[in-house]
Amino acid sequence: MESDRKIILVVDDNPVNLTYAKEILRDKFKVYPVPSAEIMFDLLENILPDLILLDIEMPDMTGYEAMAKIQENPVLAEVPVVFLTAKLEEVSELEGLNLGAIDYITKPFSPPLLVKRIENHLLIQEQKKELKRLNDALRNTIKDKTLQVTTLQNTVLATVADLVETRDDVTGGHVTRTQRYLELLVDRLLEKGLYSNETEDWNLDYLIPSAQLHDVGKIAISDLILNKKGKLTEEEFEEMKKHAAIGVSVIKRIEANTEQRDFMRHAKHIAGGHHEKWDGTGYPAGLKGTDIPLEGRLMAIADVYDALISHRPYKRPLSTEEAHVIILEGKGTHFDPVLVEVFDEVADKFAHIARDSAY
Ligand code: C2E
Ligand code: SIN
Ligand code: SIN
Ligand code: SIN
Ligand code: FE
Repeated sequence: MESDRKIILVVDDNPVNLTYAKEILRDKFKVYPVPSAEIMFDLLENILPDLILLDIEMPDMTGYEAMAKIQENPVLAEVPVVFLTAKLEEVSELEGLNLGAIDYITKPFSPPLLVKRIENHLLIQEQKKELKRLNDALRNTIKDKTLQVTTLQNTVLATVADLVETRDDVTGGHVTRTQRYLELLVDRLLEKGLYSNETEDWNLDYLIPSAQLHDVGKIAISDLILNKKGKLTEEEFEEMKKHAAIGVSVIKRIEANTEQRDFMRHAKHIAGGHHEKWDGTGYPAGLKGTDIPLEGRLMAIADVYDALISHRPYKRPLSTEEAHVIILEGKGTHFDPVLVEVFDEVADKFAHIARDSAY
């Protein structure tokens, strides 16, 4: 079938060679004899060949020069080029292959060998294209799947987090707001290039949503404590403090059944680290300074800020200005001093989020 025939350009300044090549190849391929590299480029404006046979020694533009120009065009660079050379010379052969040619064929051609080698190169090219098609298709499938799973995961997360929050009598989007505060802090932190050793292997697509699980351990805390109006006894507070470690165990149980390592790593650091304090007086582990995972140190600021501006069964809401001052006062004791400076720079944005939502 004419339409299935591969297109071959034969570029040679010697008309005898052109005629000869055309004779040999015309049964199998659609052959365009081209007398110069300049005319080849004119032709390439309209025809994308499957392979080019390119003579090296030509007046005006040589085969090497033409090859270099072909490589500059990303579409043409995909077309396999075979050099035609009168005598095989090792140095120039290497030069040609370095330029991106896939093969050399010496003139005069042996007709069956020329056909065979062209067929081989066309087959390889076909296989390369097929592999690329499969790869692209696979990549798209994975993208779709990942999006589905991520959507499902976020829905489950938001629902679980919401249940924890509702039981807690903390109404009005604590989970959503703390996630937004965290994002503000993380964005500014990255902008400033601080703690780049830690942030380098972060995956923000997972880190930010994983913040929704920071208080998931409250699932195991009694309603009586959780919703107590007024101050907790020491004993009750000890019970309440367990929510951080329980949160980590809950996440570890989820982790055992999922491939989402990055998500779970961030989630553990946030749930386990958000009540640690810079001076080592926090819980559950009493970690100090940079021993506390960075995500936890960031979440501490987001979490306390929101607790301060919110109504709780045990406290009245404070103003954003008061909350701002309390965070600054915690610099170096409760909070990482470097992160308090980051917070200070975006405090007005915190206040915006606080005021924008009903609580
Ligand atoms: P939460 O209400 O979400 O508060 C989170 C964190 O914000 C607290 O962690 C604390 O570090 C900070 N925070 C909250 N309110 C204030 C405040 O008025 N002043 C200052 N300086 N910081 C504040 P913490 O203390 O580890 O408490 C963890 C959770 O335990 C609280 O989460 C809350 O659910 C509960 N809780 C703590 N104290 C009491 C209390 O006296 N009564 C009741 N019913 N629950 C309490
Ligand atoms: C705390 O106990 O540290 C915070 C809760 C409160 O204001 O009593
Ligand atoms: C964790 O990173 O897994 C927990 C950190 C902590 O115990 O505070
Ligand atoms: C703050 O920086 O504390 C908030 C300022 C504001 O309320 O706009
Ligand atoms: Fe908490």
